[in-house]
Amino acid sequence: MNDQATQPASASSAGDVAQNDTPKPLGLWAQVREDWHAHGRDWTLPGFRAVAVARFGKWRMNVKPIILRAPLSILYRILYRRVRNVYGIELPYSVQLGRMVVFEHQGGVVIHGCVTIGDGCIIRQGVTIGNRTLDKPMEAPTLGKNVNVGAGAKILGGLTIGDNAVIGANAVVLKDIPAGALAVGIPAVIKEPKGGAS
Ligand SMILES: CC(C)(COP(=O)(O)OP(=O)(O)OC[C@H]1O[C@@H](n2cnc3c(N)ncnc32)[C@H](O)[C@@H]1OP(=O)(O)O)[C@@H](O)C(=O)NCCC(=O)NCCS
Repeated sequence: MNDQATQPASASSAGDVAQNDTPKPLGLWAQVREDWHAHGRDWTLPGFRAVAVARFGKWRMNVKPIILRAPLSILYRILYRRVRNVYGIELPYSVQLGRMVVFEHQGGVVIHGCVTIGDGCIIRQGVTIGNRTLDKPMEAPTLGKNVNVGAGAKILGGLTIGDNAVIGANAVVLKDIPAGALAVGIPAVIKEPKGGAS
């Protein structure tokens, strides 16, 4: 994924697709606006604020004159620390964040800077998504689209979670999870859902 989130197929229309059919990246404000909708139109939600700060942090890297970028970087660092220290959400700008990702609650949320999170994922309180061991510090998970991550779950290492997978509360995921699967427990195993996953 490039510097800005790309258009999911379902959201494409003639007006927002470039001539060569490459999805047109959304601008900062358009992204923040749809994040706001995804967070129930509540600008006071810590999750929305964390995502907005991460979007801003990524956007500012495209401001090429260093003299202009420097004050934006200072502002980003202040806002990032505030989100981390006050809300307990560590979401660095370097995370490849898809569209309309929702951080449903705050507190104890740690996302490694090399993580990819697909469109429409839901992340809850107490979730860690990061490297598994200190000797592979840059290995981090890739979440597909619409992955639903339960409270307290830990997703560790250079693994892939398929689209629409559900990760149960407090699961510790250490291996790839196929699309649509339900993964629960420590270490997480695939289970057949009996219904009710949301
Ligand atoms: C994972 C989850 C979505 C499963 O919902 P479901 O589709 O209704 O699945 P079921 O309840 O039928 O459970 C299927 C199996 O997984 C087990 N299971 C479900 N959730 C589990 C969990 N968090 N940890 C360990 N096992 C779990 C069930 O015991 C069952 O096991 P069995 O087949 O051996 O009987 C749900 O249990 C969950 O953890 N949701 C997280 C939501 C959350 O974080 N809420 C916080 C809001 S603030």
